[in-house]
Amino acid sequence: MSPLSITRTLPADATAAALRADVADGLARTPKQLPPKWFYDARGSELFEDITKLPEYYPTRAEREILLTRAAHIAAATQARTLVELGSGSSDKTRHLIGALTGLDSYVPIDVSESALAAAGEALLTEHPGLTVHALVADFQHGLRLPDTPGPRLLAFLGGTIGNLLPEERAAFLRSVHAMLSPGDALLLGTDLVKDEATLVAAYDDAQGVTAEFNKNVLHVINRELDGDFDPADFDHVALWNAEQQWIEMRLRARTDLTVKIPEVDLAVSFAAGEEVRTEVSAKFREDGVRAELAAAGLELTQWWTDSADRFALSLAVRT
Ligand code: AVJ
Repeated sequence: MSPLSITRTLPADATAAALRADVADGLARTPKQLPPKWFYDARGSELFEDITKLPEYYPTRAEREILLTRAAHIAAATQARTLVELGSGSSDKTRHLIGALTGLDSYVPIDVSESALAAAGEALLTEHPGLTVHALVADFQHGLRLPDTPGPRLLAFLGGTIGNLLPEERAAFLRSVHAMLSPGDALLLGTDLVKDEATLVAAYDDAQGVTAEFNKNVLHVINRELDGDFDPADFDHVALWNAEQQWIEMRLRARTDLTVKIPEVDLAVSFAAGEEVRTEVSAKFREDGVRAELAAAGLELTQWWTDSADRFALSLAVRT
């Protein structure tokens, strides 16, 4: 068998159907909302890569620091032979981990972007010729079947992306992680931490306006995929801290009264001036909360590592 295989577990039209359903449902509600996964077409993925380099956006650098300093410890604690990574994207940060996991046999990157998986898989195989890469094109929120590779498994979900899920979705997701693991397997989870509001808001409202562009990219995606006629210039980027829910919210706020046509879902959507669409929540965590959410899903927190400035955490948990 070739050392790189890419398996599509989503039917080719599943993505289009899911976008339609999310747009039809989310823009018909009050208040309006759209799920953040639709930011990430090729342009959106590029903008996110740019965000990770912004001075205000600390999570990527903080998590990389932890991975670099703790990789050997993670390797010793898990002895993983298979590394599964959800939302692997460019597999950039995972490189350090793969380098440290000396007994690693298989890497299973999982992402909705087939192009990202192909590029990352090729690059990794040049660096680690002995590795088998089973890439999966899949949406981790919809029941995954993992390939039959040797254990123990380490399942990594990095970047703080779990914060994009609402509390009930998070609970369901962690239960599905539990179902994917066998006793002795482990989860490596990246979570951004609660901190002062100014730092948090700046990370989602940068001075160069890259995050604003990223936020508005969802309108370009709807225009292209569903023949919409959004003018992104009609909307302002909003980032705010929701103290009650302990999450950052991104919204798009209509600058005037306007109506948008989205023929592919038979929709004419009216916005009043000042009306907002919530496009993302990014929850921030504390150690006790993470421990409790893991425990509720049958996962025991065994290590909690933060970066030197205590901005971000990596948790190691085992299936009990
Ligand atoms: C990729 C989901 C971790 O929530 O911080 C960055 C996405 N949104 N800036 C995050 C994002 C706005 C990011 N995650």
